[in-house]
Amino acid sequence: MQYLYDHTGKQYLDFYGGVSVMNAGHCNEEIVEKVCEQMRTLQHTTTIYLTQQIVDLAKKLAHITPGHLKRSFFCASGSEANDGAALLAQHHTKRQKFVAVRQGLHGRTRFTMNLTGIPMWRTDIYPTNDVTHIPAAYCYRCAYGLSFPACDLRCAQQLEDVVKSGDCAAFIVEPIQGNGGIITPPHGYFNRVREILDKYGTLLITDEVQTGFGRTGRMFAIDHWDVVPDIMTMAKGIANGTPLGAFTTGDAIASSYTRPGASTTGGNPISATAALATINVIEKQQLPWQAKELGDYFKEKLVALQARHSTIGEVRGKGLTISAELVKENKIPATEETDFIIEEFKNRGVLAGKTGMSRNVLTFQPPLVITRNDIDHVVETLDKILFMVKNNP
Ligand SMILES: Cc1ncc(COP(=O)(O)O)c(C=O)c1O
Repeated sequence: MQYLYDHTGKQYLDFYGGVSVMNAGHCNEEIVEKVCEQMRTLQHTTTIYLTQQIVDLAKKLAHITPGHLKRSFFCASGSEANDGAALLAQHHTKRQKFVAVRQGLHGRTRFTMNLTGIPMWRTDIYPTNDVTHIPAAYCYRCAYGLSFPACDLRCAQQLEDVVKSGDCAAFIVEPIQGNGGIITPPHGYFNRVREILDKYGTLLITDEVQTGFGRTGRMFAIDHWDVVPDIMTMAKGIANGTPLGAFTTGDAIASSYTRPGASTTGGNPISATAALATINVIEKQQLPWQAKELGDYFKEKLVALQARHSTIGEVRGKGLTISAELVKENKIPATEETDFIIEEFKNRGVLAGKTGMSRNVLTFQPPLVITRNDIDHVVETLDKILFMVKNNP
C-alpha cells in the first residue's frame, strides 16, 4: 500500500507514489487479484475485435468524466494520450497551432515535447513553430508582478492575446502543473479560460495525467473549477501502475476523426482490467474524499512548519498533490537544499519528489491510502531535516 522495500529489506514510506501513479496503493490486493485472473484468461488481441474490458472501461470513463465527455481512445502512456488529443483537436478545428503554459509538461514524444514548456524536459533540437507558451497562473512568482485577485487574472487574459488570431486548435494545460511545481491556479482561472476559448473557437484540452483519479480531492482536478474541457487526457493513476493512457471527448469532436487510428496494446484486456479495478477501489473506498481530508490536514501541518522555517516559501496544492517551494532570502530557489532534503528523507525511510522550474519544490504525491500518522511522521521528519539545513546553510 504506502510502503516500498529496497534490496536490503529496508522499509520506505512512499510519499511520491511513483510520480502520482499509485493512487490505490502498491500491490493493492483487489487490483492484483483481478489482473492475475485476467492474465490467466486473455492477455491480448488486436483492437479490431472489441473485448469486454475495453468497452466496460470506456463506459466507466464516460460515467466519471465531467459533462458530455464520453468517447475514449486508449493508448499506453500519457505522452501518447496528449499527442493523440492534439491531433484530434487539429482534425476537428482544421487549425494548426496550440497554446500551452511555460510551466507545463505534456510528454516525451516529439510533439508533446513541443507542447511542454519546462526547458529541462525538452530535448528536441528542432522545435516546431506551432506552439506559443504563456505564463501559468503562478501567483507566488507572478510573471506580471501582480497579486490575486487585484490582477483580474492577467495570466488568463494573456490567452486571448494569442488565440484571437483564430489559428489555434487548442489550449493544452494541466489543471495543476505537476512537474512545474504543483502550481495551483486560483479560483476563477479556468472559468475565464473557458470563456476566452469559447469566444474564439479554440478547444480546451486538460491534461489530467498527474491530477486524475482522486489525487486532488475530486475525481479530476478540473472538477474543482466546475469547467468541462473539450478533451481530457489521462494516464498514470488510471491503472495504478499498469501502462495505460487515454483521451476522452464528446460525440461531435470524436466524430470529426474519420481516418484510421489504433494502438496495439492500448486498452488491452490487462490494462483495461487494471483500470476498472483501480477505479472500483477509488470509488468504493471514497479515495477522492480521503485525499481531500488528508490533504487538508497535511497542508495545515506544513503551513505550521512554514512559520518555523523560512526555507518554506509557499505551501500549495489540492488533496494529496502538495508541495513546499523551498527558497533562500528574496525567494531565491533553494535548489541544493531541496536535493539534500530529499536524500536525507530517503536515508530516514521516506520518499518524496522534486519539481519546479528550478527543481526547488519539495513534492508529495503519496498513495491516497496513507494515514494521519504517516503525515505526522513525514512532517516531524521534515522539521528535523529543515533544522539541519538551517544550521548548515
Ligand atoms: C502532466 C503530464 N502529462 C504527460 C506526461 C507524460 O506521461 P508518460 O510519461 O506516461 O508518457 C506526464 C509524465 O511525465 C505528466 O506529468
